[in-house]
Amino acid sequence: MSQPSAQLENSRQLPLHLPERAPDASENLSEFGREMRAGLSRTVRSVSPKFFYDVEGSALFDRICELPEYYPTRTELQILTDHAADMAAEIGPNAEIIEFGAGSLTKVRLLLDALEAPRRYVPIDISGEHLGAAAERLRADYPELAVQPVVADYTMPLVLPAPGEGAGRRVGFFPGSTLGNFTPDEALSFLQLAARLLRGGGLLLGVDLVKDAALLHAAYNDALGVTAAFNLNLLRRANTELGTDFDLDGFAHAAFYNAPLRRIEMHLISRRAQSVSLGEDVFDFDEGETIHTENSHKFTVDGLRSLAAKAGFVPKAVWTDPARLFSVHWLQAPAAQ
Ligand code: AVJ
Repeated sequence: MSQPSAQLENSRQLPLHLPERAPDASENLSEFGREMRAGLSRTVRSVSPKFFYDVEGSALFDRICELPEYYPTRTELQILTDHAADMAAEIGPNAEIIEFGAGSLTKVRLLLDALEAPRRYVPIDISGEHLGAAAERLRADYPELAVQPVVADYTMPLVLPAPGEGAGRRVGFFPGSTLGNFTPDEALSFLQLAARLLRGGGLLLGVDLVKDAALLHAAYNDALGVTAAFNLNLLRRANTELGTDFDLDGFAHAAFYNAPLRRIEMHLISRRAQSVSLGEDVFDFDEGETIHTENSHKFTVDGLRSLAAKAGFVPKAVWTDPARLFSVHWLQAPAAQ
């Protein structure tokens, strides 16, 4: 951040008759802009899926969750509904729930309703926007619950406010298979961080399972094209926020299951040879060239349990739906010191 301000001070010292130096786009770009430029500069182009979620992208994601083909949300909600009492029994009374991500209040409510006297709910999210409103709605319905949102990047080490007197277990809640967006190495690092943060408590983790490729394919290639719109929204967002000139009709949504790597990959494929500019940079696309926008890893129950064990957790109960589409894991964190 020091560079842009140094630039400003220098320009103020220039004699007034000199033409103003055009601001170097690289110095004024947002995090999205910097990552977009870096991502488009790579030989295999990629952009992080975290940039999907502007206001429109978040609304499109909510619509995805309602689609008949997109089984994960509905299935996880069913698992939480069917087994909340068992989960609450594992967690115990007076717990504090730390949710990674702004959170679907629907999911955490299912848990809160089953828990005995939950003390505190701490949603951690990088964007403060959703957090405030979500916290207000929850406070109104759970007057006994201390709702304390934290604006932070949960993939970085973080310190939480100390638990109050008589607090029960500290329990992480990470539903929705968001873990699947990480590479296997990143997933391990995240779980290691979480194990440290949750000492003496545990992690309730929802992950999508490996299954028939046709079912996976349908979930990311819905008939209404909502997932396509969600993917393409990244380019619309770049046009609005970064002034790029992506032609939204010039790119096609693609999603397929990469079986050896056990992940759905989403890409935006250039329909023709074209150029896109971002500030002073021009990026040339060949016909068929892609921007890789998301990985969504799928897990086996045993694979997830051994990954968790490697990170220091003791895997305990697992709940799945009868068709074993999705799984929710209770992972005990190392004992407090
Ligand atoms: C929010 C990352 C779990 O991978 O299924 C849905 C995002 N992308 N459809 C997923 C998503 C396309 C979703 N996660």
